[in-house]
Amino acid sequence: MTTPRSKLRPSSSLQNHWELVYKSQNHAQVSWHQKHSTTSLDWILEHTKPSQDIIDVGSGVSILTDNLIEEGYSNLSAVELSESAIIATQKRLGGKESLVRFYCQNILDFETDQRFDLWHDRAVFHFLTHESEQKKYINKLNTHLAIGGYFLLATFAPDGPTICSNLDVASYDEKAVRALLADDFRMIKTASEDHITPTGKLHQFNYFLLQKISTPPKNTGVV
Ligand SMILES: C[S@@+](CC[C@H](N)C(=O)[O-])C[C@H]1O[C@@H](n2cnc3c(N)ncnc32)[C@H](O)[C@@H]1O
Repeated sequence: MTTPRSKLRPSSSLQNHWELVYKSQNHAQVSWHQKHSTTSLDWILEHTKPSQDIIDVGSGVSILTDNLIEEGYSNLSAVELSESAIIATQKRLGGKESLVRFYCQNILDFETDQRFDLWHDRAVFHFLTHESEQKKYINKLNTHLAIGGYFLLATFAPDGPTICSNLDVASYDEKAVRALLADDFRMIKTASEDHITPTGKLHQFNYFLLQKISTPPKNTGVV
């Protein structure tokens, strides 16, 4: 994991940052763009059923929800800071958007009574470069994921970029993820992926699939 360099940003300034990204940039040209979901989709199809509750955290304008709906999934949720990204996704879904519950929110403030069977995060957790934010995120994950549910995490790999969208990012290998989550999760599998950005750059990702094994969320002292 890389050393945090940035100062903790207030939630509103982070929201403004991402809102500007989606208002000012061509959505098909952002570095994380995928025409079709890859490892995330494969692993979700392999480990869940279409009737199960799936949440995509920091969904942006990702094609994952479209791909899951095509596969018959209908209990989808998406949490995203940028309203513009949510509106663009809803428009693209063209009539199928009612199959997705959209929350325009910081994941660190997310609250719901729902318990998810799979929590997906591609390129969001790695923006949390401060330990206090990471603990808060893991607390949310623990609270909202059902026992036996899956955490599918995709982050930059240690040989990947150190900055994305002008923000510092952390990077993870299996050891670093185990160190963060070993108390409550068991590692099911990992994979590396070379993501080629729309401008032809190589961004190395690591994917991790973990399963929640223990019961109550721990009191980490973080609120
Ligand atoms: C690099 S993009 C990845 C988008 C999407 N997951 C994908 O794979 O295409 C990161 C996304 O996470 C959102 N995001 C960043 N921090 C967030 C937070 N704390 N809570 C909710 N969304 C967040 C951003 O607005 C952005 O859409």
